[in-house]
Order: sequence, then C-alpha cells, then structure tokens
Amino acid sequence: MGARNKDAIYRRILELREQINYHNYLYYVLDSPEISDEAYDALFRELKELEEKHPEFVTPDSPTQRVGFKPLDKFESVSHAVPMLSLENAMRETDLIEFKNRITKLLGVDDVEYVAEPKIDGLAVELVYENGAFVRGSTRGDGYTGEDVTLNLKTIKSIPLVLFGPPEAPPVPSRLDVRGEVYMDVDDFENLNKEREKNGEPPFANPRNAAAGSLRQLDPNITATRPLKIFCYGVGLVEGHTFKTQWEVLQTLKKWGLRVNPHVKKCSGIEEVVRFCRDFQEIRHTLPYGTDGVVVKVNDLAQQSILGEKTRAPRWAIAYKFPAEEAVTRLIDIEVQVGRTGALTPVAILEPVNVGGVTVRRATLHNQDEIERKDIRIGDTVIVKRAGDVIPEVVRVVKEKRKGTEKPFKMVEKCPVCGSKVFKLPDESIFRCLNVRCPAQIKGSIVHFASKGAMDIDGLGEKIVSLFVDKGFLKDISDIYRLKDRAEELEKLEGFGKKSVSNLLNAVEASKKPTLARFLYALGIRHVGEHMAHILAEEFGSLKRIMSASLDELMAINGIGEKVAHSIYHYFRNPENLKLIEDLFQLGIEVIEEKPVEQETPLEGKTFVFTGALSSMTRGEASQKVKELGGRVSNSVSKKTDFVVVGENPGSKYEKAKKLGVTVLSEEEFLRLLEQGRE
Ligand code: IVH
Repeated sequence: MGARNKDAIYRRILELREQINYHNYLYYVLDSPEISDEAYDALFRELKELEEKHPEFVTPDSPTQRVGFKPLDKFESVSHAVPMLSLENAMRETDLIEFKNRITKLLGVDDVEYVAEPKIDGLAVELVYENGAFVRGSTRGDGYTGEDVTLNLKTIKSIPLVLFGPPEAPPVPSRLDVRGEVYMDVDDFENLNKEREKNGEPPFANPRNAAAGSLRQLDPNITATRPLKIFCYGVGLVEGHTFKTQWEVLQTLKKWGLRVNPHVKKCSGIEEVVRFCRDFQEIRHTLPYGTDGVVVKVNDLAQQSILGEKTRAPRWAIAYKFPAEEAVTRLIDIEVQVGRTGALTPVAILEPVNVGGVTVRRATLHNQDEIERKDIRIGDTVIVKRAGDVIPEVVRVVKEKRKGTEKPFKMVEKCPVCGSKVFKLPDESIFRCLNVRCPAQIKGSIVHFASKGAMDIDGLGEKIVSLFVDKGFLKDISDIYRLKDRAEELEKLEGFGKKSVSNLLNAVEASKKPTLARFLYALGIRHVGEHMAHILAEEFGSLKRIMSASLDELMAINGIGEKVAHSIYHYFRNPENLKLIEDLFQLGIEVIEEKPVEQETPLEGKTFVFTGALSSMTRGEASQKVKELGGRVSNSVSKKTDFVVVGENPGSKYEKAKKLGVTVLSEEEFLRLLEQGRE
C-alpha cells in the first residue's frame, strides 16, 4: 500500500473520530442529536472497519475503545491527588441561614454569591484527563483512596474519552481531575430489576445501589450493558488552567464536553438559594433521575480557600436535604437482628410499599424503648419514612385503623441466634447478646473484616460468610487465611466449583498487605470507623505504637475523645484480641505502615491553628507544610495550641488566642518558622 494511501486512511480515521465524538456529545451530553441513529452507526462502522484493517492506528482514546476488555481479577486502588470530601447536611431552611451566617462572619462580608446544584443520588467518581485524554477513573472510596474503575467508566457514553479544545472551548489543561456523580435513571433501574427478577437474580434496592453495583463490576462487559450516566460537578487537581469561580468551573467543564446538570443556578444571596431549594423540590419528581437535595457552594474559589475545610467536609459548601418521604403500610411482623457487636435490633417486616420511588420491605425499630414509646404492635397500620440514604424508619402508628387483634412486641430473652441469655447494660437502651462466640457476632465481624473499606476481600460477603460459619469453615477472623487448606472441601459445597473457590482464595491472598488504616478499621474496634482509623494511622504511624499507646496519648489527639480512647485502649489489652492479631501475623498478614515523617521533624508535637486568609498560600498548603515538618493542625484554639497563625481578616480564634495567651504568629513570622524548620 502506498504511503499516500495510508496517509489518507489515517486522516479519514481522525476525521471519523472527531465526527463521532461530536455527535456523541450532542446525543449523550446535550441530549439533542443532529443526525439519525443510522447515520451515526454508519460512521462508527466505517471507523471500526478501518481500525480493524489498520490496528497500528488504534489508540486508547478512539470511540471504538469503550468496550471489549477482559474481566479483571480485582480493582487496583488509586489515591486521589486531592481528597474527595463529603458534605455537611442542612435539614431545614434555617440551617441554610446559619450556614450563611457562619461563612459571612469568617469572611467579614454581608453575603456572598452561591451556586446551587441538584444533589444527584448516585456514587461519586473521579475522572483523570491528561492533555485532554481520559486516562484513569476511580470511585470515591474513603475519600483518600478509591478503586480503579477506568474500564467500566469508559463504557459510559456521556463520559468523553477526549475533551474538546479551542476554538469552542479554552485550551484543555495538561491535567484535569473531574468529579462527578454516576447514576441510573429511575425507569432504567426498574427495567433492570424486572430483568434481574426474570433471571432469578436479586433485585437492587434503589437506583443508587444499582449504579454502584454496576460500576463495581469486575467484568466491564457487564457494566457496558447497564444504562449508567454521569453529571460532573467539580474538579480536583488541575494543572494548566486557573478557575476563579465554581460557576466558571461548571461552564468550562461543559465546553470541554463534560455533562453538567442543566438545573444548576448561580444565586446572588442566600434568599435566592432558599427560593431555588423550594422550587427545585417541587419539580424534582418530574426529572428522570433521583435527587435527594441541593448542594450549595460558595461561588468564589478564593473565598472557598479562605473558608477551608473541617476534617471531612468543606466549610464552603453544604447539602440541603429534602424532607423525608412517607407512606402508609402494614407491619406484618417484628424480627430481632443480632449485629456484629451483639446489639439486638428489632426490625419491622412490612408489606412492601413504595416510598419516594423505592420499595421498602423492612424498617428499623431501633430498640425496645422506642417500640414502647411509639406503641407499635404487630399487625398495626404504620407510617414509614425514608430520607435519602438512611435506613427506613417507622414513624408512628395509625391508631384509628386498629382492630384489636394487634399483638404487642416482647423483647426476646434469649439471643435468637445462639440462644444465650440477653442483657441490657446499665446506661444503654439496647439489649445485647454478650456471647463473643455467638455466630451472629462472628459472622458480622468477619463480614466487616472482609468489607470494601477494610481488607477488601472480594466474594466474602454476607451470604458466603454465613454459609462458611454454619459449615464450620470459619470460626473466627483468622480462619479466613486458613481457608486455602480446605479448598477441596469448599469445592464440594453447593454452588461452588474449582473456579469460584480459586477466585475467592486469590482474593484472600491479595488482601494480605493492608495499609495500617485499613487494618485498624478491619479489626472492628468500637468507635473506630474509616475516618478514625486514618487519623490513628497518620498520628502513630505504626501498629506497635497504637497498641502500646496510653489513654493520655490517645486522648491528646485531635478528634479522639474519651469514649473512643477507652475503646481503643481496652481493645488492645484484651488477650483474645491480641491473640487474633498475633495469629493474623503468623498467617502472613503484613501491615504496610505509611511511615510517619522519618525526616527532620522540627515542629514535632506542635499544634497550629490558622485564622484569616494567608496571602502567599492557601490554608491547605500551609497545613501541608506544617504536617511535613511534623506539626499538627487543628481547627480550634485551646490551651494545648502552640501557635495561632493570623492572616487577613482573622476570626474569633485570634481573640481566643490572645485571651488564652497562645503565641500569635503573623504570616511573615510563620514563613520564617517554616524556613528555619527546613534548614
Ligand atoms: S460536591 C466538597 N456536588 O454528594 C464537595 N456533591 O455528600 C463534595 N453529590 O460525595 C461534593 N451531587 O457523591 C457535590 N452537585 C454535587 C453533587 C454531589 C451529588 C454527592 C457526591 C458527594 C456527596 C457529598
């Protein structure tokens, strides 16, 4: 073939890709196609044929490269260059006013501009674009680290594989981390469930679970069949472009070809935000997708950076949640569930009822006191409530509907799982099964240990753990790592075969090198959730140090109160727990300790608080520098604070520092201190 001809083919390929990308954008992002499906298919077919004949021209960003990948064994983890924070909730309109009061006080202004955006009910993801090409995508995970779901995200047609550049849009940045919500339309969700029920598969509980389940598929070919969509709402790390406002972020993302929700609104003050929330609440059920509120963000990014963030959520944004939705149904029975800590929770079994688009079959009744207080009886007609992502709840009984045949509930005297006597501890309102060998507790703690945020052992979910405990394969957590010695027996279990057992054992093997934070979380120490585990890992750096920490050392840490400190302290002094950890190490678990600053730590043990805006760097950067030198950053001033760094327009922390006699540093003095630290 002549060079000319080949050249012409290459040019045709580029032209086809450009056309397809453009029509893709019109269809999936703007929802206003210009050509017929047949014409689009013809372009696609032509490209596919040319690429098949000339595989040397295929690039990963070609529109043909969205599907056709092999299933993965597991997802790799990806750390987010900038953590993906969550949001604080506003449950009432007055909470929005308080939000405004807080930020205007910190900024020293009357009010600010906001951007109000529908809060889409799906799961958060990050898309990484390098020089305009989609290179990697991940789930939010715990906010710091997520799962690499690149191949699955590629199957979502509203995610562009290549961004648009000039003349329509500003030049694409060299690096752009986009944040957005992957979701499923309610109709698509219902169709998918119908299909699943036909095939004997369990239905998804709601569109959000369906979206999450579809995106976390190891086989991208399955994800490709699921009707997922995305709305983009923000950015993380950006290199090669500077934004001034959130509004500009949204408008620019749209120009680059990313899908942005059309109902976003710039508001000139909090009253306009409140009005938007009211109006949007009215129309939200007319939309094809589920929304559970409105996210309100300060528009000006410079103001955002002054406001900074608390541990998990920014001060510059808030999620206004719509009031919960209610429905009437009949309470058929009350079941008692035993949790991983032995807590006995009564659960209402309901006649299935649709609450705000989702079928509810069970609802929590919290505890015996609650049932008595609400006078809930078996057979009652009740009102159930569901708010966003929380577990449905029985609000009250419709007493007028009583027939007299309803039966009051009596708490069981024996654990429904192991039969041992249940107790109510003096200052608790719940009953507990105190038998640490109770299968319910064993099952619960193993499921937790293997769960996604913990050791992340794919395939070791509730059903399988329950079966393995019942059959005697698992007697405690450490038995997970002894399963490999019983592979042959496992293969004989109903529903298992060589392949599924080997997949499971591979996943078990792959979990042997957890980070310190994951391992701590996996142990299931009471009050140590994912976030707390991160704090502990960061502060202590090694498991040994955490295990030997005194109560005082634990309590000295920002974010750890008395209750939590006691729980951690006693956990590591219980011989059974120590034996478990020892066994795990014997079985080959190796905790990866994110080494704490081994380097110079001139600010070791020093606590800093920032107030007001710094001119030479953002709050985040300043905090980072302090941490690099071994110091700690806190949000509130106390006697334990060593330095308060005062920028422009300082807040009340400055006054408090003076009152408590804490050393106050100007920005210049702070910079000098950092310099000295580095020498
Ligand atoms: S902003 C710091 N904007 O809500 C900013 N989040 O509760 C945090 N979400 O994890 C996110 N729509 O999954 C933002 N327009 C929107 C959103 C949105 C839905 C979800 C997202 C996030 C969660 C925070």
